Amino acid sequence: MVIRGLWVCKIRLVKHFGLAQVLCLLVFTCLFVTLFIDYIESWVTSLRMNGVGGAQGGILPQSVPPTRPEEYLLMPSPLVCQRAKPYLITMVTSAPANQKARQAIRDTWGGEVQVRGYRVMTLFMVGQVSDTVLTKQLTDEAREHGDLVQGRFVDSYTNLTLKTLSMLAWARRFCPEARFLAKVDDDVMFNPSALLQYISLNWGAQERELEELYLGRVHLNVAPDHDPGSKHFFPKDAFSGAVFPDYCSGTAYVLSRPAVLKLSLAAAASPLPKPLPPEDVFVGLCANTAGIAPTHCPLFSGGPPVPYARCCYQAMVSAHHTKPEEMLNYWEDMHSKAPCSWVGVRSSLGICKLRALLGYLLWPTL
Ligand SMILES: *[C@@H]1O[C@H](CO)[C@@H](O)[C@H](O)[C@H]1NC(C)=O
Repeated sequence: MVIRGLWVCKIRLVKHFGLAQVLCLLVFTCLFVTLFIDYIESWVTSLRMNGVGGAQGGILPQSVPPTRPEEYLLMPSPLVCQRAKPYLITMVTSAPANQKARQAIRDTWGGEVQVRGYRVMTLFMVGQVSDTVLTKQLTDEAREHGDLVQGRFVDSYTNLTLKTLSMLAWARRFCPEARFLAKVDDDVMFNPSALLQYISLNWGAQERELEELYLGRVHLNVAPDHDPGSKHFFPKDAFSGAVFPDYCSGTAYVLSRPAVLKLSLAAAASPLPKPLPPEDVFVGLCANTAGIAPTHCPLFSGGPPVPYARCCYQAMVSAHHTKPEEMLNYWEDMHSKAPCSWVGVRSSLGICKLRALLGYLLWPTL
């Protein structure tokens, strides 16, 4: 249908303007789409957002109980943020056994303390394990690097929501200095420099200090799974709507200081559903209760994996499904040559995003 329509349209155009002009127009359109794909994506996404945010804003408590230091088995000095005064704190949710992933992050983007003139800090968030050898290794790792926060909950995939709650509580109590908190998975190539550039263009101003920001790749119109046998089962009494409020992909998202506080209030306002919902859905529900709408940023991956290209990765804020060795290689390559030119970044970003989209259309389950 659509193709026939286009074909008819093209024939008419050719009759009217001649082949050269039509080809010219086509080339121009392709070029435009490639160079400005992120703007186009932002625009299309904003049209499709369901805007539930705030519509069902519940009543939030005035405060949450203060976080107790005993809730953490391991953590850096309680003064770590007072001393470092980070503008951005990145908390990497990591499985205890993923030592290689954590080391790759320390050796690349997580090792930076100053980016674009802003102080940044990266910490790792883990839970408890029953294995005594691994427990000992975690203690040693924490002593050596001083960048582990271990919450009092059993570390498992289904308990990821507890990890996020533990992370929010830690940041509230021990890092109120940070203006932004990024939650990142340990298989994500994160790019604080690209994030800080985006923030300073859109959110950095002093007068926006009190605004809530919940930024990432927004998942739209996801339907809850009410089948009790399913891995992603979501009980009806916990959420009865046809689709979840829009939420940011859990691979990487960013919260401003006021958003951290309001999310915590919203989480405290309602009992935790059982079984626990997926972490990102849960954060989205809390944000919705708190009246915070997510903001989509096309520079976060989170849908189809984005194939590596040097200039593209210089612009992307996050790219997930990155193995530790890949992270080291990409980081070295990204910093081996001069930064890419504007045209270099625009075209590379357009091409890698188009490739990711094509990959998704061909293999949607990946
Ligand atoms: C999640 O953590 C709680 C608290 O530590 C624990 O009781 C529970 O067994 C954990 N669940 C899973 C599935 O690991």
